[in-house]
Amino acid sequence: MRAVVHDRYGPPEVLRVAEVERPVPKEDEVLVRVHASTVTRGDAMGVRSAEYRFTRLLTGIRRPRRTSSGTEFAGRVEEVGAAVTELRAGDEVFGIERGANAEYVAVREAGAIAQKPTGLTYEEAAAIPDGSLLALSCLRPADPLQGKSVLVYGAAGSIGTAAVQLLAHHFEADVTAVCDTKDVELLRSLGAPNVLDRSREDFTRNGKTYDVIFDAVGKHSFRRCHRSLKPGGVYISMDLGFMYHVPLVALVTRFIGSRRATLGIGRYRKEDLLLIKELVDTGKYRPVIDRRYTLDEIVEATRYVETGQKTGNVVLRVSEAARVEQPEPAASNDAP
Ligand SMILES: NC(=O)c1ccc[n+]([C@@H]2O[C@H](COP(=O)([O-])OP(=O)(O)OC[C@H]3O[C@@H](n4cnc5c(N)ncnc54)[C@H](OP(=O)(O)O)[C@@H]3O)[C@@H](O)[C@H]2O)c1
Repeated sequence: MRAVVHDRYGPPEVLRVAEVERPVPKEDEVLVRVHASTVTRGDAMGVRSAEYRFTRLLTGIRRPRRTSSGTEFAGRVEEVGAAVTELRAGDEVFGIERGANAEYVAVREAGAIAQKPTGLTYEEAAAIPDGSLLALSCLRPADPLQGKSVLVYGAAGSIGTAAVQLLAHHFEADVTAVCDTKDVELLRSLGAPNVLDRSREDFTRNGKTYDVIFDAVGKHSFRRCHRSLKPGGVYISMDLGFMYHVPLVALVTRFIGSRRATLGIGRYRKEDLLLIKELVDTGKYRPVIDRRYTLDEIVEATRYVETGQKTGNVVLRVSEAARVEQPEPAASNDAP
């Protein structure tokens, strides 16, 4: 099968499409024919980029131990292992699996895999799991959030657009999204009642305070957000921050002061994916797609993702079926 591989660490140019062995599903796995995948920021984090060198203790010091690439997939089940009980050949599914930038992936039935939401194309479904599961698992420790004021900084990214929708329609919080001028209308359409254009207004200087500040891109800081947090308020960062200071600040603020900093640690759980599917099926969550590329355009796609400027998600078309409209109307909300 064709798959994206990388034999060494480095810039997007180390990625290439190669012929590799098709995976054979184990007893508790299904084999998925992937029609669409994506390129996420996480695909670069600690895998190829120099930014997170310390993670090479786990991924291989000199060369990557795992040469495959990609995380999100949407496709059709082709084979099921003997111990698989619910999924069947022919099921349309979406989810998370390492090595998803490929024509096939083997996925544990108990892993982050679920039936594809009704009416979405494979491209749309592939753009959902990563941002939504990371946002959900990092916001949940701050729950109950109903009626609480939550500001999302970096609201137009993959995690940010997911967080805004989850806060508005699932947690029922009072959301304020902070983004660039070009994304203001998109964030409103995703359900944010308050949207601040960060090129016109600095939320740390407008006198408003929040119960939670969710820094979805990890580009702000607890110190600068401090006076915008209510007493007892929490700052959640998705990134380790400059000089990896966030874990240290999180430790210190556990014991000192009434406002806390925490590092969001994202998880991919099957039960969360099932919840997201339900939110999509009931019109409470929708995919946001910025650009689409083919598998062969992996280098261009990755270069764009690594600008850190994407709006929502970047999709990789693995087969021609990726963009085929499904019988029910698709809930696509492509970024303008
Ligand atoms: N903690 C975890 O478990 C975990 C897991 C995976 C990823 N992450 C981290 O989560 C972060 C977000 O990931 P993502 O996929 O959502 O990223 P993304 O989609 O690439 O984020 C892009 C968005 O970030 C905004 N942005 C970029 N620089 C900014 C700045 N200085 N100030 C404000 N907004 C800025 C961009 O807005 P403009 O276009 O307007 O600049 C764009 O809308 C990444 O840093 C990634 O490393 C954490």
